[in-house]
Amino acid sequence: MKHHVKDLSLAGKGKLRIEWANQNMPVLNLIRARFEKEKPLKGIRLSACLHVTTETASLVQTLKAGGADVILCASNPLSTQDDVAASLVKHDRIPVFAVKGEDNATYYKHIQAALDQKPHITMDDGADLVSTIHKERTSLIPYILGGTEETTTGVIRLRSMAERGVLKFPVIAVNDAMTKHFFDNRYGTGQSTIDGILRATNRLLAGTTFVICGYGWCGRGVAMRAHGMGANVVIVEVDPLRALEAVMDGYRVMPIAQAARIGDFFVTVTGDVNVIRKEHFGAMKDGAIVANTGHFNVELDLNGLKSLTKRRREIREFVTEHQLKNGRRVNVLADGRLVNLAAGEGHPASVMDMSFANQALAGEYVAKKGKRLGKQVHPVPEAIDREIARLKLKAMEIEIDKLTPEQKRYLASWEEGT
Ligand code: ADE
Repeated sequence: MKHHVKDLSLAGKGKLRIEWANQNMPVLNLIRARFEKEKPLKGIRLSACLHVTTETASLVQTLKAGGADVILCASNPLSTQDDVAASLVKHDRIPVFAVKGEDNATYYKHIQAALDQKPHITMDDGADLVSTIHKERTSLIPYILGGTEETTTGVIRLRSMAERGVLKFPVIAVNDAMTKHFFDNRYGTGQSTIDGILRATNRLLAGTTFVICGYGWCGRGVAMRAHGMGANVVIVEVDPLRALEAVMDGYRVMPIAQAARIGDFFVTVTGDVNVIRKEHFGAMKDGAIVANTGHFNVELDLNGLKSLTKRRREIREFVTEHQLKNGRRVNVLADGRLVNLAAGEGHPASVMDMSFANQALAGEYVAKKGKRLGKQVHPVPEAIDREIARLKLKAMEIEIDKLTPEQKRYLASWEEGT
C-alpha cells in the first residue's frame, strides 16, 4: 500500500489519541454502526483532503466502515498530526499522504497521489482537490459523482466556479449546514484559536487588547472567547451589518490602520488576502503577537513584514520574532498558517462530531444521487441537518418539548389575532 507519513513507529500513540477523540463523537459513531451494516459506500473510491487529525481519523474510519476505498491527504502543510497519519496507515490500512511541515511541492504531490486512485467522490477542506482536478487532472472528471466541501473558504471558491459555469461536478457545501457552521465555526474556532495562541505563547489574555479581523461565524467565536478571558476585544470589519453587530455585542470597531497601533494580539479570520499589511506591521507596538485562523496563509502580508525586518529568529516553537528596523518586535505565530491546527490540535472532537457527521452523510448522499445532482454547489439536505441536531441532543441526554396540537393549529392559522 502506497503512503507517505513521517514515522510509522508513532502509530501506537496515534491509535490511543484517536480512541480518545472517538469517545466524544457519538453521532459519528452511530453513523459508523449503520454504515458497517448497510455498506452504503461499497465500491466507492473516495479521496479526502482534510486536516489529518484524530477527528478526521474517526471520519475516514467511518467512511471505510461504509465500504469506501479511502485515501487521505493533508489540506494544510502544517496541520498534520504525524502519529494519527501513522496509525491510519498501520492499524486501519488507509493510505495517507501527509507529513507535518511538508513543503509546498510535497503538499501538491500528496494531492496528486490522493487523486491517482481516480475517485468517485472528493472530500475537501478548502477545495484543493476540486481545483487541482479542474486545472490539471480533467481526465478524472468522468469518474467523479461529486464532492463535499468542509469550509467557508472552499465554498466561496466553489460558488465562484459554479457562477462562471466551470464547475464540472456537483459539490455539497457541508460548511453551510447549520449543524456545521453554527457550532464548528463559532465554538470550534473560538476555542481552538485561543488554545493555539496560548500553547504557542503562554501569554495572559486578561487586560490585553485583542484585535480580530473579520466578524463572521469564526470571528464571533474568537471574540466571545477572548472577551471571556478578560481581553478588550477590537473588531475590524468591511461589512456594515457585521460591524454593527460587533458594536452591539459590546466590542470596539475600527479600521485596521487604527487597531494596528493599539493591539497586543491580532488574529485574522476573513478568508481574504493581505488583511494586515506592511504599514500595519510597521505601526504595531513592540512585542505584538500576530496570528491567522482563516483557511489560507494569505491574510498576513508576510513579504511586507519581511521588508521591514532586520533579523528573524524562532524564539519559541511556532513563534517567529521579527526584529524590525524601527526597533520594535513583531511575533508571527505558525508562519501565518491556521494557528489552531498548527500550534494546537484543531477543534475538539465533540464539535467535529457534527461537522463530520455531515461529511459522512453528505458522502452517502452523493453516492446515492450521483450525477443527477447537477453541476452546482448544493446544500446539505435539511432533513440531514435536523437529524444530526436531534442525535447530538440525544447523545447529550437533553430532552426538548414537542408542539401541542393547539400550538400546531395556531402556527398554521392566519385568522387569529389579538
Ligand atoms: N478543522 C478544524 N479543526 C479540525 C479538526 N480537529 N479536525 C479536522 N479538521 C479540523
